[in-house]
Amino acid sequence: MRFLDPARWLLLGSLVLATSGCGPKERSADSGASAEVEPARPSYTIGMSQCNLGEPWRVQMNADIKAAADRHPELRVIFKDAQNDTLKQRAHVEEFIGAKVDLLIISPKEAQPLTAPVARAMEAKIPVIVLDRALLGDKFTCFIGADNTRIGRAAGEWIKDKLGGKGKIVELTGLMTSIPGHDRKNGFRAGIAGRDLEVIFEADMKWLEPEARKEMESALARFSEIDCVYAHNDPGAHGAYLAAKAAGREKEMLFVGIDALPHEGIAYVEQGILDATFQYPTGGAEAIENALKILAGETVPRSIVLGSRVFDKSNVRDGGRPLP
Ligand code: FRU
Repeated sequence: MRFLDPARWLLLGSLVLATSGCGPKERSADSGASAEVEPARPSYTIGMSQCNLGEPWRVQMNADIKAAADRHPELRVIFKDAQNDTLKQRAHVEEFIGAKVDLLIISPKEAQPLTAPVARAMEAKIPVIVLDRALLGDKFTCFIGADNTRIGRAAGEWIKDKLGGKGKIVELTGLMTSIPGHDRKNGFRAGIAGRDLEVIFEADMKWLEPEARKEMESALARFSEIDCVYAHNDPGAHGAYLAAKAAGREKEMLFVGIDALPHEGIAYVEQGILDATFQYPTGGAEAIENALKILAGETVPRSIVLGSRVFDKSNVRDGGRPLP
C-alpha cells in the first residue's frame, strides 16, 4: 500500500465532501489509497415503484429493468413492490422522495391516487418515468407504454373477423380505476362497432386470474350462448378458459387476451388454450434507456409509444404479426 502525502489527503477529503450530498454522486473507483488515479464517475440511484408482482407480466417488467440497468455499473435500482395496495404504493413513492433518489420509475396501480405523490416527486426535482399505466395530468417527465386503445381496437377487429361480424361476447375488463382498462375497453368497442356483435356480459376482473374465473362462472350460469371472451389481459383470458372448461363449454367460444409473454399468452396460443393474444411490452428496457438520458441532462419525449403484435394460430410460429 502506498501512503499519500498530506496535501493529497486534503484533496481527497474535499472531493468526498463535495460529492456526498443528494443528486448525482461521484463514486471513486476504489476505496483504497489508489483511488486518486481513477477519474471519479457519477453514480445514480433509481427508485422503482412496482404496483404488484402477482402477475408474471410484472415480474418480467422488473427483470427487464434489472437486466438493462445491470449493463450500466453507474446505476443502482431499488425495487419496491406495493403488493397491489394503492396506499402502500403511495407510501413507497414518499419514501423514495425522502431518500432523495436521483430518478423515480413508477408503474402505478391506479391513476388518481398516485397522481399527487408523483407530482410531489417532481416538485422535489426528482424526474419521474411513468411506465405502462398512465396517471392524470402532466406532472411527470416521461410516459412509456403501448397504445391500449389501438390494441383494444385491433382485438375487436380480430374478433369481428373471426366471428363473421355476428356473436355474443363476454368482456372481462382490467381494473377500471386504471387507464389501460378504459382504453382497452373503448378501443374494443370501436373495433366491434357497426356489426351484429353484442357484449352480453361485462365485469371488472381487476387484472386478476381468480377474479376472471369467478366472473366467468357467473357469465356461464346466465348465458347459454357465448361466442367469445375478450379479457383485458392473458391471466384474465386464462381464468375464463378454466371456468368454461370446468363447465365443459370451452370449445363453444373463442378466448382472446392481451400481454403475449412468451411463457404465458404465447404459450397458451401454441397450446390451443387462447385463440389470440395481443402483445403489451413491459417497457422495462426503454425505461432504463430514457432514465440514462434524463440523468445525463438530455430531453426525452413526454410520451413514448411502444409497438405491439398479434399472435394467433396462423402466425404464432413466425413470431406473430405487427398490428395493422
Ligand atoms: C399486470 C397487468 C398486465 C396488463 C397490465 C396493464 O398487472 O395487469 O397483465 O397488461 O398490467 O397495466
